[in-house]
Amino acid sequence: MKATKIADRVFWIGANISTNDLFEGIWPIPDGVTINSYVVKGDKIAIIDLVRDWADATSYMLDELKSIGIEFKDIDYFILNHLEPDHTGNLRALYELSGKAEIITSKKGKPLVKAYYGLSDKVRAVSSGDTLDLGQGKVLTFYDIPNVHWPETMATFDSSTGTLFPCDAFGSFGALKGSIFDDENSEENHEFYEKESLRYYSNIVGPFSNFVLKAINALGPLDIKIIAPSHGLVWRGDPGKIVERYKVYANYMNDYAEPKITVIFGSMYGNTQRMLRSVLKGIASEGVNVEIYKVPEADKSYILASAWESAGLIFGMPTYEYQMYPPMQDLISLLAQKHVWHKKVFRFGSFGWSGGAQKHFDQMTEKLKWDFLEPLEFQGGPTDEDLDKGFEMGKEFAHEIKKIPKKL
Ligand SMILES: Cc1cc2nc3c(=O)[nH]c(=O)nc-3n(C[C@H](O)[C@H](O)[C@H](O)COP(=O)(O)O)c2cc1C
Ligand SMILES: [Fe+2]
Ligand SMILES: [Fe+2]
Repeated sequence: MKATKIADRVFWIGANISTNDLFEGIWPIPDGVTINSYVVKGDKIAIIDLVRDWADATSYMLDELKSIGIEFKDIDYFILNHLEPDHTGNLRALYELSGKAEIITSKKGKPLVKAYYGLSDKVRAVSSGDTLDLGQGKVLTFYDIPNVHWPETMATFDSSTGTLFPCDAFGSFGALKGSIFDDENSEENHEFYEKESLRYYSNIVGPFSNFVLKAINALGPLDIKIIAPSHGLVWRGDPGKIVERYKVYANYMNDYAEPKITVIFGSMYGNTQRMLRSVLKGIASEGVNVEIYKVPEADKSYILASAWESAGLIFGMPTYEYQMYPPMQDLISLLAQKHVWHKKVFRFGSFGWSGGAQKHFDQMTEKLKWDFLEPLEFQGGPTDEDLDKGFEMGKEFAHEIKKIPKKL
């Protein structure tokens, strides 16, 4: 693999990962992910963000470096914007290979370098506004962007080319489809990355949305021409596009999202599921966009992405041992952890004798800033009257969701 030139003396030396492994051990990446690493050359040479030794990532990196005439002994600085091991996993090996390189990270990053890799020699902590002069006009400036999504995160800016390296901010799942540049990908490819950036955002960054907005504000005054994140496309044609999209995603945490409904249901014996059809018919009568997921079969990564961008959530599940059906408990605790807030919500479900799911549902969701429609519970199978009610509730709910303005 050859390095890809991003700008004057700036190169991408990342890895395109294709694997059956789960990202963070949780999230499926059937279409892969990139781990982007970059080289900036002045008289001195800096690498910005490393890779985890995953699916041959390190050997790709070494080949790419070689293609631009750089060997590891030539590296002067490893700049670590973020200590999560997807960007630092091979630090120790590379540090030893390089011999002379100094590690540059944020103040909060320094103790993490020690904790993860046992390194404290030649580790320099920098703060917002600090610079690193590589010579030949290449001066890098650092900006703390804490909690996007770890506390130590910073961004690095090369003012000579206007290239911003913001690490996980503005990142996406999805391996490359040929070109790393936004302006060399088709509309269809952009649709794919749009979905994968929403999934990445909701799975990884979502709960830190207010910090994302702070970071966007802090970096706003810079004259940014290229955004080179640590996952996904490099934005040089229209860098404002991914910033705008991240802003919209972040605001989904603070207000109703899109006029869309995510329906999540689970059913042991089909009674709750019989009601689902009526509710869906009610939604369809209003023509509202809907995505339907069944637990535990559907993957939580995709449910979370759909829920993040939906103003409406509908849950269908029965009572189980005086509580909610367990796969739904798991899902709702994930939605709570990921700050899936400000939703309009409707719940329906079957029970056998005295119920209990609704009380449990109320307890688990009381802090989520959700607006609830009256729930619809029924004993055993739904009667025709219950089904008619379900249709009406679905229709009424969809009617409310339709009024919410589109953001994207
Ligand atoms: C393992 C198990 C535990 C249950 N616990 C309760 C319960 O605590 N309270 C209750 O009212 N019904 C309970 N039920 C009954 C179910 O809620 C009832 O059968 C319901 O109709 C199932 O809906 P479904 O067909 O959508 O799965 C339980 C059923 C099972 C199989
Ligand atoms: Fe990360
Ligand atoms: Fe990452």
